[in-house]
Amino acid sequence: MFRSLLVLVVVALAADAKKLASYIKPCKRDDPNLNECAKKNGLEAIPFLLKGDKEYKNPSLSPLLLPRLDVDAGANLKITFTDVTLRGLETVDFRDIKINLDKKTIFVQVALKALNLQGHYEIDGRILVLPIQGNGPCNLTFEDLVVNYGFKYELVKKEDGKNYINPNIKPDVTYTMKNVHFQFDNLFNGDKTLGDQTNKFLNENSGDINKDLGESISQTISAVVTNIIQLIVAVVPYDEIFI
Ligand SMILES: *[C@@H]1O[C@H](CO)[C@@H](O)[C@H](O)[C@H]1NC(C)=O
Repeated sequence: MFRSLLVLVVVALAADAKKLASYIKPCKRDDPNLNECAKKNGLEAIPFLLKGDKEYKNPSLSPLLLPRLDVDAGANLKITFTDVTLRGLETVDFRDIKINLDKKTIFVQVALKALNLQGHYEIDGRILVLPIQGNGPCNLTFEDLVVNYGFKYELVKKEDGKNYINPNIKPDVTYTMKNVHFQFDNLFNGDKTLGDQTNKFLNENSGDINKDLGESISQTISAVVTNIIQLIVAVVPYDEIFI
């Protein structure tokens, strides 16, 4: 997820309406090696992008602050995170990018060593067979996360007469990860015994939970990435990304 985010960030930040950020180089539309160009330029730009750039309205990505994350986990489970701090995007390894300008599709693969999510959670429902309910601080760590993020986009003309990338809000997202570490504080109205047991259960069954909640996790990843992408492509004309 975060992978694609970075790609897009890269792509999107290639330029802004005023001038090009010096650390981001555009790619030529007719470059037969467009993918390599995007990957190379993306890799070079990542450290700068992670820091954020006020001039380009690009928020810092390390850490990345998100006001709210709704997880659609189906009828049996509701999860909402608020005041989220995501750490670890700086461990990103930008593995692959495939751009098809004719079909207007972009695919990216990124790998992250460890992604840590801290913030406030609200959860209600069941995970596997276990009832879970509560709200409070949480601390989740996803280890060795590999995210594939593919999306279609349209070009829309804005008031300034320039075309901008408008990503489809329903991207294709798949991921793999090695392990998740869960810590939900204050579960069950602060019932410590029940809360400790539940956290223990979650951590001991993280593989099954990952399978069970896979779709929701994909959607969460997707929401985060899409969020970031939209922040960025909103200010960057297409013609200055792909010249
Ligand atoms: C969050 O979890 C990580 C890894 O499980 C741990 O190293 C860190 O100390 C925790 N931080 C807080 C504030 O609980």
